[in-house]
Amino acid sequence: MKVFINKRIPEIGITMLKEAKLEVIIPENEHLSYEEWLAYCKLSDVILNVGGEFKFDPYFFKECPNIKAIALYSVGYDQVNIQSATENAVPIGNTPDVLSKATSDVSFLLMQSVARRASYNFEKVKAGNWGRFDPLHALGQELYGKTLGVFGLGRIGFEMAKKSRKAFDMEIIYHNRHRNVEAEKEINARYVSFDELIKQADVLSIHASYKAEQKDLFNNAVFEKMKSNAIFINTARGGFHDQKALYEALKNNQIWGAGLDVTNPEPMPYDDPILELSNVCVLPHIGSATEEARNGMAKMAAENIIAFSKGEKNYLLV
Ligand code: DGY
Repeated sequence: MKVFINKRIPEIGITMLKEAKLEVIIPENEHLSYEEWLAYCKLSDVILNVGGEFKFDPYFFKECPNIKAIALYSVGYDQVNIQSATENAVPIGNTPDVLSKATSDVSFLLMQSVARRASYNFEKVKAGNWGRFDPLHALGQELYGKTLGVFGLGRIGFEMAKKSRKAFDMEIIYHNRHRNVEAEKEINARYVSFDELIKQADVLSIHASYKAEQKDLFNNAVFEKMKSNAIFINTARGGFHDQKALYEALKNNQIWGAGLDVTNPEPMPYDDPILELSNVCVLPHIGSATEEARNGMAKMAAENIIAFSKGEKNYLLV
């Protein structure tokens, strides 16, 4: 069975595949064009896919009828048209759990960085503008006892909520497709409607898995309803927020600040006006970028493929 991996992943995953006697194909050039990528896919039985650059859409499944399974090196699976995968009987695997702590750490980091205006202050230091002690300048806000609104209280959202509860005794409200009974019991999380979530949250943090119909869900109308002291955090997918509307909301002080690990578009152009604002912290999609999480993802993606090659389906999503 030929396994195509479009970018090098931690060695543990590659070793596991080789030990399971699977043939691993990793191109020398890891910056493939779409056509080059598709040509590799056509030669392979299984794909271990890194990144969301190329889509597994109806065109892909028509062009690559021999693909038997796809193991994603991510928890998100928005790059896959699940309906097409199902119609073509191609099982899809992803890597949940192993990155929940690392990704929620970034949400937590962004929340604090924005609340204490870390980016703004760091820019000042770099520019030689440390200045004298000023009791009224660059004041942040404390998070103690504030309300965290979690949009999507799954594994990553739960980790973020637990940390926020423990560190800052934050009240947790959430909106989800399903009630999260464990979170309601363990951290007293309270289920609210979407409207209540955006109106009541002092910090609004997105953790849901993204679907195309949710594009720009956080738009002008939503930012208008949020509190003026609210901090908006997105470490899930940039498609969730309308970035122009977010820029306007921040510029007009409709909301207080934003921390983004995902942007719209992604990567974000260096001259995006949002970067000129002082109440924003942007990171380049580093949620799962720890040795522990990336090794865990490599192991899990390899396990998915090995399970598939043995006819098992335990890890696969579809
Ligand atoms: C994920 O796992 O979905 C992260 O966003 C990395 O792509």
